[in-house]
Amino acid sequence: MYPKYFEFFNPVKINAGEGALEGIPAELQRLNVSKPFIITDKGIVSFGLLNLVLDGFNDSDIVIGAIYDDVPPDSSIEVVNEAASIYKREACDCIIAVGGGSVIDSAKGMNIVISENTEDITQFSGHDRLRNFQQPLIVVPTTSGTGSEVTLVSVVADKKKNRKILFTSTKLLPTLAVIDPRMTLSLPPKLTAATGMDALTHAVEAFSCLQKNPISDAYAFSAIKTISENIFNVVTDGSDVQGRFELAVASTSAGVAFSNAMVGAVHGIGHTVGALAHVHHGMAMSILLPYVMEYNLDKVGDYYADLLLPLAGDEVYASTPVDKRPQESINYIKGMNEKLNKLCGMPISLKDAGVKEEQLIEIAEKSLNDGAMIVNPVDMNKEEVLSILKKAF
Ligand SMILES: [Fe+2]
Repeated sequence: MYPKYFEFFNPVKINAGEGALEGIPAELQRLNVSKPFIITDKGIVSFGLLNLVLDGFNDSDIVIGAIYDDVPPDSSIEVVNEAASIYKREACDCIIAVGGGSVIDSAKGMNIVISENTEDITQFSGHDRLRNFQQPLIVVPTTSGTGSEVTLVSVVADKKKNRKILFTSTKLLPTLAVIDPRMTLSLPPKLTAATGMDALTHAVEAFSCLQKNPISDAYAFSAIKTISENIFNVVTDGSDVQGRFELAVASTSAGVAFSNAMVGAVHGIGHTVGALAHVHHGMAMSILLPYVMEYNLDKVGDYYADLLLPLAGDEVYASTPVDKRPQESINYIKGMNEKLNKLCGMPISLKDAGVKEEQLIEIAEKSLNDGAMIVNPVDMNKEEVLSILKKAF
């Protein structure tokens, strides 16, 4: 049933395909900017990925204003302040982020510092607190998972207070997302699997959470089909350019879906598993997804039944009795986890992922404070989260 009211917004231009990188200079001209600041990390540089982006400027008159390659695995206030001060010093006029979640979050964070002209971004944390329009932001993702190239979220760590600060605003939506399959070709199998399952989780949660709407559903449905069709091939053969491209586009599509519909308890609990037990976000997602779905089953079984088609294909969907489809979707995802475990060693339990049994109670307690829990289709108390964690352990 359609919601009585919903909003959907995604103004990010998407340039996707081989050669998309070479189109960046022309896009900058269209945006009337000419001195880009590139933000990235050392891994991207050493894998030669930054050079791929820079090569795209060979035939253009545009001069790169500055390159900042010091983004750590977790973006921080210090990093965004440092990057912003170089941006201002070099009088740059747009940002190009080349990297995964942390680089993209840092780019959005430095954009807040520059555009709000502040030395303390914490005052802009929370929902919709930004006053000024941001500098043009071009995002070139190097993983197929976070969807950050099309989302309105940035997470920046406050190392001094040992907490993560969340910013959400439509002003944080990038100007342009450049999806080029060459950027993910060197991603190792386990990271390909983990980031792919993160994208799958974005789509499944967007399709079943309280804020779902028919337009985000279309993006989520398409993303699930494409991820399911490509993830095993790409994990097995990382040089599959077409498969890489399809996974990257599916990840962006899932990002558009959840940026509008939000996510749910897999993310609520998974964020805490990541923070307290340092489990990779995508691995926490894949492990928790089927167990949270089982918890939500009575309320949103019809939605899960619909998902059997993009997950398992038309033959399985048609041959599964209607009343068995919801559980079959969950079983299918469990089967995906087992297959990825065999293919590349993806953990299939929290224990495998390094979580200690004595951490479960604290994870359950702290998960309740995560914003993603609010839109989960079924409420949870501490005991209910703990029971999910025990099943996933
Ligand atoms: Fe995620």
